[in-house]
Amino acid sequence: MTTRTWFITGASRGIGLELARAALAAGQRVAATARRGETVAQALGDHEALLPLDLDVTDRAQIAAAVEAARERFGGIDVLVNNAGYGHLGLFEETTDADARAQFDTNVFGLFEVTRAVLPLMRAQRRGHVINVSSIGGISGAASGSLYCASKFAVEGFSVSLADEVRDFGIHVTIVGPGFIRTDFLDPRSVRFAEPAIADYAELSERLRSFYQQRNHQQAGDPARLAQAILQLAEAPSPPQRFSAGSDSLDMVDARLAQLKEELDAWRALSRSVDGEWEDAAG
Ligand SMILES: NC(=O)c1ccc[n+]([C@@H]2O[C@H](COP(=O)([O-])OP(=O)(O)OC[C@H]3O[C@@H](n4cnc5c(N)ncnc54)[C@H](OP(=O)(O)O)[C@@H]3O)[C@@H](O)[C@H]2O)c1
Repeated sequence: MTTRTWFITGASRGIGLELARAALAAGQRVAATARRGETVAQALGDHEALLPLDLDVTDRAQIAAAVEAARERFGGIDVLVNNAGYGHLGLFEETTDADARAQFDTNVFGLFEVTRAVLPLMRAQRRGHVINVSSIGGISGAASGSLYCASKFAVEGFSVSLADEVRDFGIHVTIVGPGFIRTDFLDPRSVRFAEPAIADYAELSERLRSFYQQRNHQQAGDPARLAQAILQLAEAPSPPQRFSAGSDSLDMVDARLAQLKEELDAWRALSRSVDGEWEDAAG
């Protein structure tokens, strides 16, 4: 495997930690960042190729400092993995504007700012790979995902557009869309549930909350295996624009594609009816 420098956000636990561990084991150089950098060092121990760094992705000053520290130590960054994130799960009317802004501050604006800080290094090198951890919720929405899925849909639109802008500099952008992966994601340490507040939603709200609570630490996907898959994506000469992680994710993307196609066909004539009959139409 080619030796690369990785910069990983949210490496204190879950997917980020397993990725940092796997990358080190594969002989990679790793700037492993976390809100409390010492948690990474505690989990992984001392390692010559490991640089644990403090980074809350909502803190711009910390972003600049962490990227600069990685550049200073390793001379550049080859693979950026925007992994830090959490789910705010709840019915939209039971969430608040503050909940929505906090969700986007971490999952979207944090990811934007880390990417903004790293891209100049990658452009200078004329190579790089930005790997954005989205979710099956970035391609398919469902009740209780109005904030979380909206944030991951934003990550996906951003990633596809960015890929088009940086391709000529030898920079790849890949979306990773996990299904349910066995991490702390659904644990009270990570997930935020909306407080039940509206009687009309009481039954649905309770049903969804218990659905997620029952899945906490019971998910099918293995974060260590996802880490191995991400290592392979970084090694691929032509990495995919979007990679679905886990059979549940694959099945849900298949279902979403089929649903989109069926609806597109059902409404095709009305869609076409919008075309104007202009003399100067460009086609
Ligand atoms: N597990 C799943 O089923 C699943 C499915 C689809 C997508 N994902 C995505 O996978 C990514 C990783 O989640 P996970 O499953 O590994 O969950 P996790 O075990 O809860 O880990 C989340 C990580 O994100 C970090 N984080 C949260 N807010 C942060 C912030 N403001 N700045 C820096 N780090 C922050 C956490 O740090 P602290 O330790 O400091 O809290 C932790 O390291 C997320 O983007 C999540 O949306 C997960």
